[in-house]
Amino acid sequence: MQKTDWTQLWLKYEKKRDFGNGAYVAKAALKGFSAENRVIAHALEELNNGIYGMLGVTVRMVSDPGEASLVLVNSNDRKKEGFSLREQEGVLTLSAADENGLLYGVFHLLRLIAMEKPLEGIRQVVDPDDPLRMYDHWDNMDGSIERGYSGESFFFRQDEILVNRRTRDYARFVASIGINGVVINNVNVKQAATWLITERYFKVLAALSEIFADYGIRLYLSLNYAAPLELGGPDSADPLNPEVRHWWERKMEEVFAEIPNLGGFLVKADSEGRPGPFTYGRTQAEGANMLADAVKPFGGIIIWRCFVYNCTQDWRDQKTDRARAGYDNFIAQDGDYRDNVILQIKNGPMDFQIREPVSPLLGGLRRTNQMLEVQVAQEYTGQQIDICYLIPLFKEVLDFHTCCGEVCDTVSDLISGRTYGNTNTGIAAVCNTGDDGNWTGNDLAAANFYGFGRLAFCHGLDPEEIAEEWIRLSLSNDADVVEKVKGILLGSRRTYEKYTCPLGIGWMVAPNTHYGCSVDGYEYSRWGTYHRADHLGLGVDRSSRGTGYAQQYHEPNASMYNEPETCPEELLLFFHHVPYTHRLKSGKTLIQHIYDTHFEGVAEVEEMIRVWESLEGKVPESAYRTVRERFDRQLYNAREWRDQVNSYFYRKSGIEDEQGREIY
Ligand code: GCU
Repeated sequence: MQKTDWTQLWLKYEKKRDFGNGAYVAKAALKGFSAENRVIAHALEELNNGIYGMLGVTVRMVSDPGEASLVLVNSNDRKKEGFSLREQEGVLTLSAADENGLLYGVFHLLRLIAMEKPLEGIRQVVDPDDPLRMYDHWDNMDGSIERGYSGESFFFRQDEILVNRRTRDYARFVASIGINGVVINNVNVKQAATWLITERYFKVLAALSEIFADYGIRLYLSLNYAAPLELGGPDSADPLNPEVRHWWERKMEEVFAEIPNLGGFLVKADSEGRPGPFTYGRTQAEGANMLADAVKPFGGIIIWRCFVYNCTQDWRDQKTDRARAGYDNFIAQDGDYRDNVILQIKNGPMDFQIREPVSPLLGGLRRTNQMLEVQVAQEYTGQQIDICYLIPLFKEVLDFHTCCGEVCDTVSDLISGRTYGNTNTGIAAVCNTGDDGNWTGNDLAAANFYGFGRLAFCHGLDPEEIAEEWIRLSLSNDADVVEKVKGILLGSRRTYEKYTCPLGIGWMVAPNTHYGCSVDGYEYSRWGTYHRADHLGLGVDRSSRGTGYAQQYHEPNASMYNEPETCPEELLLFFHHVPYTHRLKSGKTLIQHIYDTHFEGVAEVEEMIRVWESLEGKVPESAYRTVRERFDRQLYNAREWRDQVNSYFYRKSGIEDEQGREIY
């Protein structure tokens, strides 16, 4: 085999203890599936390689299912893309609804073997929660990655598209965790990327999409709303202009003819300088529907982002509230969107902070397809230098009761289609990969890459369980490693929050790069991201007495957030301007809480490092070194945050730390 300079992440297929598992997989048969089908063929290839690598057994395909110990059955009692795994009297049956279900079932089986779980007596049924489970890459065609922390793009270099063995490995990885759609280019579509829907790139895009198709993944592209103007079409992008509509219809005919495995498009319009329908005095719905009509004949979908806000705010203006913008810009047209439009909503109303409430648009919209967007790339959450296992955060969002109805009111219900019975729903994450050898810069950040897919497939999974899977598959089955790394991962989000962001305030971060502390970095900027600290207190009043944002929620959430007494404390400063002397439920004052959590955050990083060091020799050497080196940078970062935040609020408030620790 040709050597590669990248790791195989959680698909390492290294030697494992057998526990009788080898006997089940020695002879396999297909029933109701054809080995000619490309997805089935690749599932079988994976099965072969995996079993051989882990158990040293060569899987023999037999034509008579009665002779097989592993039967791969096409069965219509499973949900689309679902599968079940059952062992009875020495025969293992993997039933799947369709080829994707079979592929996911095979990866699941390989996962169990890799984790050294005995297959005897197994009975598992797994149906995906989200119909659409997507990774969005913010890769630019020059090879850079917007908010990328793991090297350069492996999709693009110097305005060309790369299609090689790494593309296939990427497809295998994401298929193994159940991803069925991938956007390869940045939502900010500029320059060469605008030309992705032209002849210049059709051939190679088709080749790339074929690799994706081998693993049941559809290719999606981010689209430039102003493409007609930039590609020599009409001199307008007005969605109600017949010429513009016609241009898009012809364009889509051409594109879908050339790239058959295309799922559709992701659009960032009227946001942070990107063009959109507002330029022509049209609504977001009018813009989205025009594109939806053009892709409809080809079964395409338009994923339209709701990240629309005024990014040229005057910081003196205390009425305008960026948090309100998503809801204010989209709620009025609820119900006006075509069936093949999905509104993609960031989990919080601001922008992927370590702590935000759930966006009130989720559950606010009742007659529009909704999709959740989260960020696995650690833009505001440590940039893959600091450890921050994000799956608990995503899980909290999924479990949130929007109170949009009596039943089925969680975000999980909404995006899985349970609430309104719709199927164009799902979840997308901004991906954290690049061309680094370990794919994610920090080896531990791969737990997020892995975990997002697992959680998207099964909302019911516990983040702890997902962490354990990832550790066993990627680092070791050794109990000490599993327990210790799990401890590091599960505590990491809380720790990061402690040294960066007290009680939901957010944004005290270095402008532009978004790494490192700068308490006033955004305080006098145009971005709508303020902490409003003065000598008496801090926080943003988003209650009915302030910007009114809390009123965008359904009751009883609206009232709960509206009052400092009932507002969940972890979000207190997001919703309220609070005096430093305010007593929290712990009995501590707000200022003391800020001091304490910042000291604790640094101490916790020091402890994580001690734990990691005890694993030297027990985890793969290169992972050990890389993570160890990143920890030094995290510790430096955490100390800076602690000392800058504590000194800032000490100087503002003049209130001493009760414990007399060093503050500057
Ligand atoms: C953030 C991020 C940008 C990104 C934007 C988006 O603001 O910093 O780089 O383009 O989100 O989600 O569109």
